[in-house]
Amino acid sequence: MNLSNPYVVVDKLNFGYKKENVLLKNLSFEILEGESVGIIGQNGAGKSTLLKLLVGLESNFSGEVFIDKIALKKENLALILQKIGYVFQESNHQLFMPNVYDDIAFAPRNYRLLEVDTLVHNALEKVGILHLKHRQTYGLSGGEKKLVCIASALAMNPDILLLDEPSITLDSKNRRNLIQILKNLPQSKVIISHDLDFLLETCSKILMLYRGEIVAQGKCKEILTNKDLLEKYNLELPLSYQGSLGI
Ligand SMILES: Nc1ncnc2c1ncn2[C@@H]1O[C@H](COP(=O)(O)OP(=O)(O)OP(=O)(O)O)[C@@H](O)[C@H]1O
Ligand SMILES: [Mg+2]
Repeated sequence: MNLSNPYVVVDKLNFGYKKENVLLKNLSFEILEGESVGIIGQNGAGKSTLLKLLVGLESNFSGEVFIDKIALKKENLALILQKIGYVFQESNHQLFMPNVYDDIAFAPRNYRLLEVDTLVHNALEKVGILHLKHRQTYGLSGGEKKLVCIASALAMNPDILLLDEPSITLDSKNRRNLIQILKNLPQSKVIISHDLDFLLETCSKILMLYRGEIVAQGKCKEILTNKDLLEKYNLELPLSYQGSLGI
């Protein structure tokens, strides 16, 4: 791993769900190998849409995107997806097998990996949910679903993790465990979150979106402690930088 190599390159990216409605406007940024980047911005800013584009769930964009030097286009998608672990904002959109084991085993089986059992076991153990191994996915709690989704994304030991609101619905112990997991992973990470304290602990860089545009990018602590900047774009300081009551 070379920490100065760009792993994701996005150049002049424009996208709209409808042609006449441009949502993501002229986005250009890089994510280096091993770098952990947080994406922040008010509801509807375009954060989830950006991640969906990176995994090919939306494709009608202009501009260029490279992942590990491979151009993001239909014919390269299968190859690119082998490198990515993606956690959807909505767990229900991600979980599609009837039980936890099969959901996490899906990608390893797809790539015909012999050690499917070990990969599933390790992923479950890492996020502390071995006890859910044989549960039906339907009927899991919101936080349990999120943890299964995270285990699924980790199972293949991807080069890059794209996490859309990973800490949402997690109790404080599981949230803390996830912070430790992410800190210990050497891979590149992109983490969308409204939990700015979570980003303070897991990211070195921040990219701020406002109405589909990048309005700030830079060092995590500098951006997340800049009250004026955050308030200008309808955000607030992380709780750990607010008063004792966080009000
Ligand atoms: N499939 C879709 N078709 C049309 N518009 C969509 C679609 N998905 C999202 N949008 C719109 O695009 C905009 C950006 O949505 P997106 O989900 O990317 O926002 P976000 O920054 O992730 O917000 P949040 O913090 O609420 O998750 C929103 O106005 C949303 O309504
Ligand atoms: Mg979102």
